[in-house]
Amino acid sequence: MLHLANIPPTAEIQASDAAHHLHPFTDAKQINAQKTRVITRAEGVYVYESDGTKLIDGMAGLWCVNVGYGRERIAEAVHRQMSQLAYYNTFFQCTHPMVTELAEKIASVTPGTLKHVMFTNSGSESNETIIRIVRHYWGCMGKPAKTNIISRKLGYHGSSMGSASLSGMTAMHRQGGMPIPGIHHIDPPYWFGHDGEMSLEELGLERAKQLNTMIDWLGEDNVGAFIGEPIQGAAGVLIPPANYWTEIQKVCRARNVLLIADEVICGFGRTGKWFGSETFGFEPDMMALAKGLSSGYLPIGAVAVADRVALPFIEKSGEFYHGYTYAGHPAACAAALENIKIIEEEGLVENAATGTGAYLRKRWAELSDHEMVGEARSVGMIGALELVPNKKSRKRFADEGKVGTMCRNNSVKAGLVMRACWDRMVISPPLNIAEHEIDEIVSKAKVALDATWKQVKAEGLV
Ligand SMILES: Cc1ncc(COP(=O)(O)O)c(C=O)c1O
Repeated sequence: MLHLANIPPTAEIQASDAAHHLHPFTDAKQINAQKTRVITRAEGVYVYESDGTKLIDGMAGLWCVNVGYGRERIAEAVHRQMSQLAYYNTFFQCTHPMVTELAEKIASVTPGTLKHVMFTNSGSESNETIIRIVRHYWGCMGKPAKTNIISRKLGYHGSSMGSASLSGMTAMHRQGGMPIPGIHHIDPPYWFGHDGEMSLEELGLERAKQLNTMIDWLGEDNVGAFIGEPIQGAAGVLIPPANYWTEIQKVCRARNVLLIADEVICGFGRTGKWFGSETFGFEPDMMALAKGLSSGYLPIGAVAVADRVALPFIEKSGEFYHGYTYAGHPAACAAALENIKIIEEEGLVENAATGTGAYLRKRWAELSDHEMVGEARSVGMIGALELVPNKKSRKRFADEGKVGTMCRNNSVKAGLVMRACWDRMVISPPLNIAEHEIDEIVSKAKVALDATWKQVKAEGLV
């Protein structure tokens, strides 16, 4: 165990947190009254609170710590890099060895012709950059009206103005005049929640038809791109029908609309292939990357661009007036390179597909026997449970999100970090998780479900 130096008493940290720190996606008044949980260290698939409480991290942080915590070799790679070149920018005709090595590495693991990489610092920034590229690309192609971008309701693409506009979260939109002009949302392929009366295949076809109809309504010459997450993570791990993405791709190709995969969660092995678009059999023109790119060891994001877009863009763009001071930061690149090396050396993508990922999917499916679980679904190393009052009907709980929050709290009490997306419980653990740790996740999830079901009945919520 690492020596933990200079950590003040928990109460002091909490008081300081309440006084000075505004948290993301948090009701500050509520959290300040409750007190925050103070996480002080992490190792493997476990995180530890300041009082020593050990939690198994079923979420790999925020869907990002794909190689697990405590990888000394990433820390060492960052240290080496910072000692040699702590920072330099890639504006003004400069580059550095780490950024070129990482761009080349990304180009080698991405499928097809996604061989060109623009760096960012987060998933939100990657999607901002995508909006900028889409609009400028079509301008360069002599079609400057192709500024509209179509995405999906319940999608999540980030929290800045452009990326939150791409997101299909109405609560976010209400807090700040979003979506920005030119962003439109169609329905997600959410069989359990919205469209259980259709067959999965019908659902896939219907959603592609909706995309076509939206393009008709906007006018093909006004639509630049369609963007979606291969699996909608923050919506509660919505896994599309097998035909969905190939049908969407057909529409995009037929209508001359760029197809963009937001691989921020799905990328770097999460779905059992390097990228979610490979799992669902489609070939995006651009990919948004972040999270698993560095397993969260340092902030970094990227946009991978296919030849079809990049080559004419490079030819015609002139100076592209876009970029971030810290894009391609040497230390973050060093962390990402070492992280990708670990993924390769330990076969973590294959592990998510056929190794402990297969075991996780088998054990996760057992939870569908629980009285409160309407569906237990999973792909690779990502899964969700639909919490319902009556498992035969697919009916929802009346106050959406209340039972999910209860279950999340019961889960933490049981020693498992499991996230609630409304009444959908989700997991996305480190890809190097062992079978006995998966057993621990499943048994603790069951404890949380039992406790929540008891509470739900006691409060008359069924
Ligand atoms: C699919 C997807 N895209 C983009 C983002 C935004 O990434 P970031 O929080 O790094 O800005 C997220 C974050 O959860 C995400 O899930």
